[in-house]
Amino acid sequence: MRLSVIGTGYLGATHAACMASLGHEVIGVDTDAQKVTMLNSGVVPFFEPGLPEVLQEQLASGRLRFDTDFAGVADADVHFICVGTPQKPSAYGADLTQVWAATDALAAQLSRPTLVVGKSTVPVGTADAMLHRLRQNAPAGAGIDLAWNPEFLREGHAVQDTLAPDRLVVGLTRPEDEATLRRVYADLLDRDVPWLTTDLATAELVKVSANAFLATKISFINAMAEVCEATGADVVTLSTALGMDPRIGNQFLKAGLGFGGGCLPKDIRAFMARAGELGVDQALTFLREVDEINLRRRSRAVDLAREAVGGSFVDQQVAVWGAAFKPNSDDVRDSPALDVAAAIYTEGAEVTVHDPQAMGNAKKSFPHLFYASSAIEAVQGADVLLLLTEWPEYQDVDPHVAGDLMRKLQVIDARNALDPHSWRSAGFRYRGLGRPLA
Ligand code: UGA
Repeated sequence: MRLSVIGTGYLGATHAACMASLGHEVIGVDTDAQKVTMLNSGVVPFFEPGLPEVLQEQLASGRLRFDTDFAGVADADVHFICVGTPQKPSAYGADLTQVWAATDALAAQLSRPTLVVGKSTVPVGTADAMLHRLRQNAPAGAGIDLAWNPEFLREGHAVQDTLAPDRLVVGLTRPEDEATLRRVYADLLDRDVPWLTTDLATAELVKVSANAFLATKISFINAMAEVCEATGADVVTLSTALGMDPRIGNQFLKAGLGFGGGCLPKDIRAFMARAGELGVDQALTFLREVDEINLRRRSRAVDLAREAVGGSFVDQQVAVWGAAFKPNSDDVRDSPALDVAAAIYTEGAEVTVHDPQAMGNAKKSFPHLFYASSAIEAVQGADVLLLLTEWPEYQDVDPHVAGDLMRKLQVIDARNALDPHSWRSAGFRYRGLGRPLA
């Protein structure tokens, strides 16, 4: 089939390359000329394991290309909307500027009956408004139809999540559109990926409520971490025991510095804002608590570091491992790690950060922090080390080697990723979030 993908960020670039790998002819369109040039030369503008290989292979096959000109989408049978929906600058709601710009630019090209498929994470009701706007503005008018097919991919696992998703959810307005989408995803359906059809509003809600649930699960265990800190209990053991109950499950139950990134934080806020508009704000008041628990973990990490250095950061050297919002990513949007590093810097410390992939993005957002080219270089002369993003390579650092370089042997493991025993054996004062002192 001929497909167009509007927006080539994490979602769109991955979707375009993966759809080409299923045998479709795909054009990806983005207003960012630099991004388009990079993608056309086989370079993924962000760190995503496995994606460069798929991109290069599909460009070589001739089935995939990228353009800044919307005219190129006119021949496509199905158009996927994959643009970003960030948080508004000074409000909780989602900023839909890119959604409406893409809708209008696409509409201008639609002169024959065609199917538009929304994949962006949007406030419930957006799909319905989009359908009306498309029909109003497209030359093909009522011949335009819309389906909603939310994306559940995780950064760091984007290719796998696109080609082997847990489920495909499709919100429809016309039953005949199901056959079109089944053709798009035929290969996945042959591999028994569960397929669920519903209406537009339910499809939009599946995505935002999934992210709200995941955020709630993380904040639940982080709330338990607060209780553990007050009682001397150990949240890591607590989490393991809870996770053994299959009704609870152990995923997204890791206590630590909490969630960040370009999705979970802004999605729960946009969901609360939308609930307010719909007059059901009370239904989601708990998400405000989820957000606050999450942000309190960042303050707690700063408090533990300050306490470790004797009550003031002035003239103290602080080493930070991790800048990305999670391992296997170079994304620093709403990164808990950088939030903590910046707060410590603001209180007067000299902060040296290391991250295996996110240094470039971190430097752009926080140029005043120091950056080290290795984990070991970062700890040189430090009074305290904070592990803020749990890249596996940090677990391989020998605490004796780190200890020989540091001014004081103190480590705060804000992701509960290090082995407390080996760090304590090497002479460190080890603190984990939600874990007993010794
Ligand atoms: C999230 C969802 O997991 C995806 O299903 C969804 O498609 C995506 O948002 C989206 O809306 O586009 P992502 O933002 O890539 O994916 O990151 P996650 O893997 O969900 O991690 C989010 C944050 O939670 C990270 O900061 C991570 O460190 C933190 N986390 C995760 C914890 O603190 N504890 C856990 O147990 C798990």
